[in-house]
Amino acid sequence: MPKAKAVAPSNIAIVKYWGKRDDRLNLPATSSISITLSKLKTEVSVSFDEKIQKDEVLVEGRPATENAYKRVVAFLDVIRSKTNLPLFARVESFSNFPVSSGLASSASTFAALTLAATKAACASFTLQELARIARLGSGSAPRSLLGGAVEAVAGVLDDGSDFEVRQILPQERVFFAVVVVVVDAKEKSVSSRDGMNLCKRTSPYYERWLEYNQGLVSTAKSALLNGDMQTVGEIAEASCFAMHACCLSANPPLLYFAEPTVSVIQEVFDMRKEGIQVYVTIDAGPHPVLILPFDFVPKAVERISNLKGVVRVIVERAGEGAKIL
Ligand code: PMV
Repeated sequence: MPKAKAVAPSNIAIVKYWGKRDDRLNLPATSSISITLSKLKTEVSVSFDEKIQKDEVLVEGRPATENAYKRVVAFLDVIRSKTNLPLFARVESFSNFPVSSGLASSASTFAALTLAATKAACASFTLQELARIARLGSGSAPRSLLGGAVEAVAGVLDDGSDFEVRQILPQERVFFAVVVVVVDAKEKSVSSRDGMNLCKRTSPYYERWLEYNQGLVSTAKSALLNGDMQTVGEIAEASCFAMHACCLSANPPLLYFAEPTVSVIQEVFDMRKEGIQVYVTIDAGPHPVLILPFDFVPKAVERISNLKGVVRVIVERAGEGAKIL
């Protein structure tokens, strides 16, 4: 019974991925840049088993929801077709953060699943081949294969064969902390995939958003390489708020923020006016993420923790990429 286990970290995008140039291949419309995190992780084990008649998927020890099950099975079909393995699999995933709270787990899950499933199938792929496989599960997953600051290069070819992941900085050279602020909010109601499709179909800003976001990539890379906190922070906010503006301009409007999300944003702006160098970014959910020099962490954490609706504050830093266990 071919079996393997892998672990992958979550990541937070500084330059967001929001929009696909090919739905079927799950190809991003723009490049993106993220920081791989050190603590928030998902462990996935995969065993292909000739004795089972269908795939079995357990998330945190419980059967996966119908949507999650279908997504994992579609991904396993890709692995089966690439490795000529005609067996069903048993997949188990555990995250060390609450997946139901709306914190993104698709990146860590699909990065770990890519490594575990290809290893269990006894197949060996290059890093870029693994990145292209991981992308079929989740667009942000390839970035979790590498540690530190990572770019996912969108590429231009129709078949996606020039999509790549590249490390911009190893984890020890990432010069700022990442603070995940978990707020009191309902689970997100519109998935990233559906949100991106809605924006593409209905937002009057969609094309401009893509052009603007792609334009941020090279400046962000130089700022990361030059240790320029201000530019990294300003770009993270620019990409985040332009993405959310695109969401808000969709029909029906897509609002991912909850009340405490807005309080945290306001507090970040206030702190900056007082000389505390802190910036904020938010994915397709209500939880803000702060980016700031290590020296400012205690002060910023104290201020944010006191806000109404803030449930938990997780102080993070850049970490290593996914690996086989
Ligand atoms: O990987 P997906 O399909 O869940 O999309 C991720 C989208 C954002 O988290 C909002 C941005 C990003 O680049 O991670």
